Amino acid sequence: LPIQAPDLSKCQPTGTNSGTNCCPPYDATIVDYKFTPTGPPRVRPAAHTVDEAYLAKYKKAVKLMRELPPDDPRSFAQQANVHCAYCDGAYDQVGFPGLELQVHNSWLFFPFHRFYLHFHERILGKLIGDESFALPFWNWDAPAGMTLPKIYTDPRSSLYDPLRDAAHQPPALVDFDLGDAAPTAQRQIDLNLSIMYRQMISSARTTKLFMGQPYRAGGNRNPGSGSLETSPHGPVHVWVGDPKQPNGENMGIFYSAARDPIFYAHHANVDRMWHLWKKLDPRNVDFTDGDWLESSFLFYDEAARLVRVKVKDCLEPEMLGFTYQNVEVPWLRNRA
Ligand code: C2O
Repeated sequence: LPIQAPDLSKCQPTGTNSGTNCCPPYDATIVDYKFTPTGPPRVRPAAHTVDEAYLAKYKKAVKLMRELPPDDPRSFAQQANVHCAYCDGAYDQVGFPGLELQVHNSWLFFPFHRFYLHFHERILGKLIGDESFALPFWNWDAPAGMTLPKIYTDPRSSLYDPLRDAAHQPPALVDFDLGDAAPTAQRQIDLNLSIMYRQMISSARTTKLFMGQPYRAGGNRNPGSGSLETSPHGPVHVWVGDPKQPNGENMGIFYSAARDPIFYAHHANVDRMWHLWKKLDPRNVDFTDGDWLESSFLFYDEAARLVRVKVKDCLEPEMLGFTYQNVEVPWLRNRA
């Protein structure tokens, strides 16, 4: 049977790892959500390519989100808590008290985060009155995108987060295996591109290998992550977080990761990889297992309505009214 959306009335205010209360505001009314695209899709741009006008809009939207009252489910703090609650023990599975609901390390990883970004993006757009607003993606899979995107590094901007690794500011290159520093920049780039090839192609030849292991109602959390979740998704988180904090906060641990605005750009690229993977080979297809398709989550939408979504309604970006700027995919040539 599918994993069911959590019961918010039973949210546990003490996170397993952090002890933090990440429970959302309670609402007894749940609306079943099915998105119907109207108008052209929102086009998510590569973060290192955006212009001043885009940046001004994005900064303003995040600033307004930070200024919402802390108990508004659309506020920046509550948005970060959404992620925390789904991965730090706030919810038990419905019908299975004591069995933690976890959205990482399984086949729920891609769909959960796709929906999460969908609502986050729509809230930001609504705050600036721009229905076409789209989140940027951190294009870490291409050489020009392999540094922390500059738009996040201005300490005076709403996109800044103080809890990051000071040594990993531009022009430092992201390191997908968090290994010893590569001797040259070119060597680091090649290494990253080879890891991309491996995680998207050589080690991703079946749906389970790419997307993660089945996770059904009553099953234990963490049955196994897919190739891309393992790397570079995980290493990029750790690489951004501050090693001087107890758990690599903010980006380096689940409960605090989404407190850094860069989280959403990182996950936009993770999401883009799901989209790309399906285009690489006709055998790369989504699960057809009903337990996956019918799995559900709860989110607050841009009108602060509590909505229930199902995995089957997020299989293509277009179904949620967005798409990605078309950029070159350099790692296709990096067969190791
Ligand atoms: Cu929900 Cu990148 O973690």
